Amino acid sequence: MKSSEIRKSFLDFFSAKGHTVVPSAPVIPAGDPTLLFTNAGMNQFKDVFLGTGTRPFTRAADSQKCIRVSGKHNDLEEVGRDTYHHTFFEMLGNWSFGDYYKEEAITWAWELLTDVWGMDPARLYATVFETDDEAESIWKRQKGLDPSHILRFGRKDNFWEMGETGPCGPCSEIHVDLTADGSGGRLVNTGDPSVMEIWNLVFIQYNRDEGGTLTPLPATHVDTGMGFERVAAVLQGKTSNYDSDVFMPVISGIASLAGVKYTGSLSAPADIAMRVVADHARMLTFSITDGGVPSNEGRGYVIRRILRRASRFGRTLGFSEPFLHSVVPMVADVLGGQYPEIVAGRSGCEKIIRAEEESFNQTLDRGLEIFEDAASGLSPGAVFPADGAFRLYDTFGFPLDLTRLLAAERGLGLDEAGFGTLMERQREMSRAGRGTGPAGGGATDSVDSASARTLDFGGGAPPSVFTGYTATSGSSEVVAADRNAVVLAETPFYAESGGQQGDSGVLLIGNTRLEVVDTQKSGGIIVHLLKKPAGFGPGERAVTEVDVVRRRDITRNHTATHIVHEALRMVLGNQLHQQGSLVAADRLRFDFNHNEKISADRLRAVEDIVNEKISLGIRVNALNDPADWLTIAEAKRRYPNVKMFFGEKYGERVRIVEIDPAFSVELCGGTHTASTSDLGCFKIVTETGISSGVRRIEAVTGDGFRAYLESLIGETGELDARLEELLAEHDRLVREVGGGAAPAVRPVFERPRLGELTMASADALGEAMSGRRGAIEELGRATQSLKRELSRKRVGEAGSVLDGFISEGSVAGGAKVVAGIVESSDMEELKNMGDRLREKIGSGVGVLGAVIGGKVALVCIVTDDLVKKKKLSAGKIVGEIAKLVGGGGGGRPQMATAGGKDTAGLPAAISKTGDIVAGMT
Ligand code: ALA
Repeated sequence: MKSSEIRKSFLDFFSAKGHTVVPSAPVIPAGDPTLLFTNAGMNQFKDVFLGTGTRPFTRAADSQKCIRVSGKHNDLEEVGRDTYHHTFFEMLGNWSFGDYYKEEAITWAWELLTDVWGMDPARLYATVFETDDEAESIWKRQKGLDPSHILRFGRKDNFWEMGETGPCGPCSEIHVDLTADGSGGRLVNTGDPSVMEIWNLVFIQYNRDEGGTLTPLPATHVDTGMGFERVAAVLQGKTSNYDSDVFMPVISGIASLAGVKYTGSLSAPADIAMRVVADHARMLTFSITDGGVPSNEGRGYVIRRILRRASRFGRTLGFSEPFLHSVVPMVADVLGGQYPEIVAGRSGCEKIIRAEEESFNQTLDRGLEIFEDAASGLSPGAVFPADGAFRLYDTFGFPLDLTRLLAAERGLGLDEAGFGTLMERQREMSRAGRGTGPAGGGATDSVDSASARTLDFGGGAPPSVFTGYTATSGSSEVVAADRNAVVLAETPFYAESGGQQGDSGVLLIGNTRLEVVDTQKSGGIIVHLLKKPAGFGPGERAVTEVDVVRRRDITRNHTATHIVHEALRMVLGNQLHQQGSLVAADRLRFDFNHNEKISADRLRAVEDIVNEKISLGIRVNALNDPADWLTIAEAKRRYPNVKMFFGEKYGERVRIVEIDPAFSVELCGGTHTASTSDLGCFKIVTETGISSGVRRIEAVTGDGFRAYLESLIGETGELDARLEELLAEHDRLVREVGGGAAPAVRPVFERPRLGELTMASADALGEAMSGRRGAIEELGRATQSLKRELSRKRVGEAGSVLDGFISEGSVAGGAKVVAGIVESSDMEELKNMGDRLREKIGSGVGVLGAVIGGKVALVCIVTDDLVKKKKLSAGKIVGEIAKLVGGGGGGRPQMATAGGKDTAGLPAAISKTGDIVAGMT
């Protein structure tokens, strides 16, 4: 059987048993901060198990794209070294939501494996949780199953949990014995590849909370997961997943690209490398086409780690140039039929991978050399040092697990604790450098910040009814309240999702006005976050009032996001896809895959398209009544061009937002204007690159445009003020230098008034501002060089003054001592005078004082002979003098500077120089 037929026969089998076949959720999970990547078929149903969400069916089946490289389920280290662990795999699953339980789950599993697929019962083993008598007795009734093939195991093997928290329960696994003589019974659960688990039947009964406590769920459920690649290998009579038709075309493609032969050996480095590359290319293809992007944090860093690991294995195969991107089409050939998104997103995905490979290539070889150097002195069993690993990480971009892998290949350990300490130190230093406040410029909204907002209504309240598509006020019952978080039965407040920020506004409870600063979602529950905690509880009534002005601004920007997405595709091509968005009141942000900076002309063309759509006043058709929502299949049928997004968790029924069916149709839960003309106008304000292959634009609409113009005018005012200052300083310097030359630049700028500004003059203003910036730079350079010239002049003029000081000098402790007060405009100049004095004095101690900017400045020099012979130190001398003027300072023995506050005391302090020197000899 071909693997595609196996997948289909699984789904057909459960469909015939009353299961609704649903699409795979994206591998980038939406709205679940506890998870970096979808790691099991049940993830998309977590809310149903927890009782916070429902589906219009109680039985479901699917084939789910899964990634296991982080968190609780992590198979990375095994990948490529064995035959059956993968970072990316497909999980075939069937579910019961409070419907059937152990009896049907077990009986059907047995029927499919033995009757439909014809597996030999003598080769199958069933494991049950140590106390699960019920499951054991059901297994005992299965036709052909030898009772000695039913084994009990403990918590480690037979209690399945999604992550640190979440739905869980005892499970029963089916293992297949692939040993030649069928003697594998004792190898079950020992990690031996000849006896492997193929299907896990989980009986979900509990939720594990953050404190680790298990709470029984309101109903019991079935959650099963079958390893598709494993079953395909078994049914195709292979002992390695890589030999099945799921992998073989990819492996062969890589082999021919590298010009080597795949022999299937478990120890040959080239064979391991081909398996790793095939596996990692699948992970990269699926995560990137679902919207992931390599970056330095969260899931983006996982993607980066996998990509770099694959690049390194590419070296083993002799690739010195980027090659991974060429594996993407091989993956798409095998799996594009089942997952069309990897075909649609292929070219963008290749570009992102290629750009990332190129940048890592620049440091990979050098990093490998550094590793070899450091490792060559170590014998097997030794520990590779933390500072080496840190340098590889920091300078050469080697993720820690790459260094761990290199070390392991040489039989070395790795000082991971030491590495952790160095990382922490670096983090502290960068925190200190940056000050508090959020880290700026993050590539994507990080998972960390999302988890910081996790709300605590996981199990309790029923889903909230959202009325905000058509209403912005109302009244409802409080169903839960905790400190400053409030849940209502129904609410017009939009909870942040799909990039659109949560609403703010007011709740009135009795006579108390409570300010809502944000609205978030937790499962199906809408949580109002109050500015201050308020003491009230369930059962009370609240009047709701959304801040309509802010909502209107957000809404404009959301509609604009849909329009600009299409406009960008029209100008830059249809391979362009949204990678992320932020819809706020003051602006919108839109990230998309594209490889180069976008020219001003093209940006202008994008703006023109959007503004054209605005001026046409096109009706925005958003299905505001949930009764009108469509199934995904219906939506795809009615709107073949409908856009669906990564990271979005679409329910069974989806809402359509359509702006001219021929122009833009999206599945979207956000709020939208009635007509495009409500946007007023649209202007792109910035265009930047945020990571390789991903660009970001920020844009404004409506009142946001006015605010943008105001900020431009404000900024122009600041630039003008700076220009004025610089011009005045420049004039003063020109006079002092005495050249009498005219200022280098004297620009004249018109200052526009707000009311006169239009879209075009906003561009003109932008240009005028860069004109001002240019002028400021030029003037800055001119004043600097004037300052240097003036300083040279002063130092030159000081010559005769210094001669005067020398002739008045004294002798103290056997050294010539010269001291005096000069005029100087800065410390640099004073130090130059000190050097001048050193030349003139021959042998001696010199101290010069000046008043600079209302404060005392001092410099002291000691000639080398005295430093040596008399151990005199300029630092100590100037320190003593500075004390007399209420200050301090120090420096090298030959030259040191100091400052002080008491300008009136300067002459007296200077005159003490002789005594101070005498006291030191
Ligand atoms: N959720 C279960 C697993 O992943 C079926 O093994």
